[in-house]
Amino acid sequence: MDRRQLLKGALVLATAAAEPLRAARPGPATLRDRAARKGLTFGSAVASYQLTGARDYAAILAREAGMLVAEYEMKRDAVQPEANRYDFSGADRIVAFAAANQMAVRGHTLCWYAANPPWLEADLTGPGLTTDRKRMYLREHVRTMLTRYRGRIPEWDVVNEPVDPTQGRPDGMRAKNVWSQALGEQYIDLAFHEARAADPHARLFLNEYGIEAATVPNERKRTAILKLLDRLKGRGVPVDGFGIQAHMRPYKDAFDDEVFARFLDQLRGYGLRISITEMDFSDRGGALDPARRDADMATAARRFLDVALACPATRTVMAWGMCDRYSWLSSPKASDGWPGGQLARVLPLDGALRRKPLYDAIGAAFDAAAPRRTA
Ligand code: G3I
Repeated sequence: MDRRQLLKGALVLATAAAEPLRAARPGPATLRDRAARKGLTFGSAVASYQLTGARDYAAILAREAGMLVAEYEMKRDAVQPEANRYDFSGADRIVAFAAANQMAVRGHTLCWYAANPPWLEADLTGPGLTTDRKRMYLREHVRTMLTRYRGRIPEWDVVNEPVDPTQGRPDGMRAKNVWSQALGEQYIDLAFHEARAADPHARLFLNEYGIEAATVPNERKRTAILKLLDRLKGRGVPVDGFGIQAHMRPYKDAFDDEVFARFLDQLRGYGLRISITEMDFSDRGGALDPARRDADMATAARRFLDVALACPATRTVMAWGMCDRYSWLSSPKASDGWPGGQLARVLPLDGALRRKPLYDAIGAAFDAAAPRRTA
């Protein structure tokens, strides 16, 4: 293929990914519409191949989601596979598709203990670099991403999954973390300050999982998060929001409305905006009959969302994908996956893109939510 054909191909791909797909005619109210009516945002994780593969899925995303988040293509191992090479192609396709369909994009994620390219892991853990150089590795990446997408990404997960009390630290912070091992807890301060300087209008989030349920491990994580927020606020770190991932496991973890509501209120007490950032409901441990599992997941989702949306600080709900075909939990590697190639039934649409009771439960929760007055 010569260069002209290659360029033509890229243009077609970019156009296909970017062309508007929202239905012109009014159809049944979508999750995007039912959320927007209340001043809320509903959205979905996506990978760029899903935008140009099955057109029906791309069209559904454009109708049902008001916001997209890159499931993996904005992470450092995807955008900077080599020290001197950035590859924004996947991220740019997602941002272009969102712009063409009047959707917002949330950025995920700038600084994480995982998804660091091998060259960076080696440099951060090796003896050869000064602390200043390691700080520069973090600063430069944050600045590169915030500058490139300035004005197009209103909220970023600046730091992802900073706590893990099972790793033995008295403060409950995640010990096995190349960034804290290299720079101490102040890696968080550095990332947030650099992000604020690079795009003063972006809302800057901490994002965490395993903080939703009425279990001892989740309570320990909530305690560690609240103590971390006290320290960050005390040091003047500009945290604007908190992301609750909501990878829910209804058959495994007890859920208590008051416990979760109290945590949301505590987060609100720091003046934080709250986003539900990666919502899915694992059906692992349920009955073999999919209809039974679907009904149980819908019940769990409605109960979770009623509590989440009762907190005025909650403004965004993101599903970690729209259909079971693309869920990370459907992967045979996933610890929660079903054997024998069955799809996990964890997202609003099944593998054939049909709505499930979970879809209806999410819509009903938006319909029941109090309208948000301010932007
Ligand atoms: O698609 C590429 C393929 O082209 C390439 O050949 C292959 C080589 O490694 O990689 C493929 O990309 C994989 C991608 O998933 C798509 O399947 C990446 O390797 C793999 O690392 C990536 O895993 C993602 C994981 O985060 C790590 O980034 C999962 O999709 C994603 O669901 C998962 O999401 C995390 C959140 O970011 C944070 N919260 C937990 C959540 C679930 O683990």
